[in-house]
Amino acid sequence: MKDVRRLYHDLSWIWPIVSPPEDYVEETESISRVIKEKARIDVRSLLHLGCGGGRNDFTFQKQFAVTGVDISEEMLKLAKELNPAAEYIKGDMRSIRLGRTFDCVVALDSVNYMKTEEELSQLFYTAFDHLNPGGVFLTVVEESQNRFKQNRVISSTHSLDDTQITFIENSYDPNPEDNHFEMTFIYLVRDKGGLKIYTDSHIWGLFKMDTWRRLLKTTGFDVQELKFEHSTFLEDEFLPMFVCSKPK
Ligand SMILES: C[S@@+](CC[C@H](N)C(=O)[O-])C[C@H]1O[C@@H](n2cnc3c(N)ncnc32)[C@H](O)[C@@H]1O
Repeated sequence: MKDVRRLYHDLSWIWPIVSPPEDYVEETESISRVIKEKARIDVRSLLHLGCGGGRNDFTFQKQFAVTGVDISEEMLKLAKELNPAAEYIKGDMRSIRLGRTFDCVVALDSVNYMKTEEELSQLFYTAFDHLNPGGVFLTVVEESQNRFKQNRVISSTHSLDDTQITFIENSYDPNPEDNHFEMTFIYLVRDKGGLKIYTDSHIWGLFKMDTWRRLLKTTGFDVQELKFEHSTFLEDEFLPMFVCSKPK
C-alpha cells in the first residue's frame, strides 16, 4: 500500500469538518500545563513540528508565540486561516533547520508518519537542535507495538452546515517484523442526500516503547515518561507522553 495521504492534499477540505478546533482545546491546554511545569526556563516560544491544520496551535498561541512546520501546503493554508498571528513554514520535520531555537518543541499526531527508526531519530534530532537549553520537547505515542490491535476499526460522524462526513479508520499490519503499518481511511460524505465515498491510505510507524526511550536518550535528552490523559484520539485510554529536557 502507498502512503498517499489525500487528507492532507486533494481532500484537505475534509479536515476542518472532521477536526474542529474546539475538539483539541482540552488536550492542548493539558499539554501546555505540562510544558510550563516541566520546562526549566520561562516558555515563551513554541515550535510545532507537523502542525497540520493548526488545531492545537489555536490553543497554544494563547500562551506561546507559535511557529508551525508542515510538509503539506494545503494543511499550512488551513492553519494560517485559523491562526493568522502564528508563523507557518513549509518543511520536513526530519530535516528542517530554521537556524534559530525555541523554548519548547512539540510533535504530536504527526509523529505517526515516522516509518523507520532512522526517521524517528531524525525527528528527535530536529527537535533537539531547535531547543534552548532547559526547554522541553514534548511528544505523544499514539500507536506502539505494545498496544497495537490488528484490524482495529474506529468511526466517527461530523457535520458542518448541510454536509455530514462519516470517517472510518482501519489499522492493519501486513508484516509485524517491520516498523510500520497501514492506516486505511474511508470518508462517507453526505451532502443534501447525495453520497460520495472516498478512500485514502497512510503508512504509520510502529515501534516498541523501548525504541522510543532508547532513541530519545541517544539524542541527548533527559527523558520523563508521563500519561497523556486528555487525548482526542482514543477516549478510553491513556497514551504515553514523553517530556524531554535539553540539558543546560
Ligand atoms: C494529523 S495531522 C496534524 C494535525 C494537527 N495536530 C492539527 O492541530 O491540525 C498530521 C500532519 O503531519 C504532517 N506531516 C507528516 N509527515 C511530515 C513531515 N515529514 N514533516 C512535516 N510534516 C509532516 C502532515 O502533513 C499532516 O499535516
